[in-house]
Amino acid sequence: MTLRPIITAPDPRLQAMSTDVETVTDEIRKLADDMAESMYGADGIGLAAIQIGIAKRVLVIDLDQKEGKRNPVAYINPKILWASEETAVFEEGCLSVPEIWDDVERPARIKCEYLDRDGKKQQLEADGLLATCLQHEMDHLNGVLFIDHLSRLKKSMALRKLTKAKKLKETA
Ligand code: NI
Repeated sequence: MTLRPIITAPDPRLQAMSTDVETVTDEIRKLADDMAESMYGADGIGLAAIQIGIAKRVLVIDLDQKEGKRNPVAYINPKILWASEETAVFEEGCLSVPEIWDDVERPARIKCEYLDRDGKKQQLEADGLLATCLQHEMDHLNGVLFIDHLSRLKKSMALRKLTKAKKLKETA
């Protein structure tokens, strides 16, 4: 497994539309492993492939890291089949949007379909943090960040902060 650097906003690559995986090969499994490694390295709970610069529809999520146990789950070509009208608000953050957290409202429950790492089609009904996390990561596949869900004012403040932080890092 290889730990790969995570792209941070603002970066045009994060706005790219990722494409479906045609076949789940060893190369895709290796990508999912690298994504998990990179996610754990950055203390995250979810990561989309585009965040390490690969525009493929692959996500890795692990919400169950409490006891130091790792159980990363790969979601390949995930699609939302159904979303509840009822919504839920979670404070979100993102490894590509460092140092910024804010409340985002999304459907509270979803039903989705995806391929697992063996290429088998799976269906999943999710609520709570998993529902939010899946929607956040699926947004990445369509070039959308959680700050895109905020008010225009909050988003522009976030982008200003991110741009400033990036410049400081470059000149450091
Ligand atoms: Ni994110």
